[in-house]
Amino acid sequence: MAINHLAIIMDGNGRWAKQRNQPRTFGHQAGVKSVRNTIKAAISHGISYLSLFAFSSENWNRPQKEVSRLMDLFIKSIDKETPELNTQGVKLNFIGDLNRFSDVLQNKMHAAAAQEPVQHRLIVNIAVNYGGQWDIVQAARKAAIQMLNQGLATEDLDQIWFQQHLMLSDQPAVDILIRTGGEYRISNFLLWQSAYAELFFEDVLWPDFDEQCLQSVLDQYEMRDRRFGRISE
Ligand code: IPE
Ligand code: IPE
Ligand code: MG
Repeated sequence: MAINHLAIIMDGNGRWAKQRNQPRTFGHQAGVKSVRNTIKAAISHGISYLSLFAFSSENWNRPQKEVSRLMDLFIKSIDKETPELNTQGVKLNFIGDLNRFSDVLQNKMHAAAAQEPVQHRLIVNIAVNYGGQWDIVQAARKAAIQMLNQGLATEDLDQIWFQQHLMLSDQPAVDILIRTGGEYRISNFLLWQSAYAELFFEDVLWPDFDEQCLQSVLDQYEMRDRRFGRISE
């Protein structure tokens, strides 16, 4: 079965660090390696779109020190990883309400997203200050403005038109949604885009997620029957 779009809720960094008697930030740093490896693996599997949940709109509620360490890590990682990613054929895209970030970080994100790899092999969407509910509301706002401007009736609003205002509207729906870290929830990730995604909840903590873990998910995916409301026969 084709996999166009893989999405991952990268959870478990804090517990991974705790197991090693280290501060939570140590786990976030270790998680960067898993991101790097997952991107490589996605390319080798011929996946076209990879969405990674890096910071949710709810993560601002963490201790200020952890949040600011995460922001530093984002800045450092963008600086360090972008050139190599572009060489590999990765186009970066940041989704979420970026306005809440510092000017420095916003500029880095815009600059990284403006880089065009010579050869396009994979689009990586990094979700930061992202929430699926926020996404739907921002789309509703844009749709409402368009309706007012064009004098349209409420009946003119349908799913296809509404969808055009969501983040990732130009990308296929999520085929596989993986959450690492052992929790059974979606935590406000790509709610609309994952409507028919195959869900995988993995116990492995994100810094330990490797190519074998991904391979195991892909193997299980092959066994699933995606019916989309139809019947198998
Ligand atoms: C996910 O790991 C990373 C972010 C949310 C930024 P956590 O930091 O949530 O790790 P746990 O769930 O506490 O182990
Ligand atoms: C989800 O992880 C968000 C990210 C991985 C960025 P959380 O650790 O924030 O989720 P909850 O709070 O356990 O639902
Ligand atoms: Mg967590």
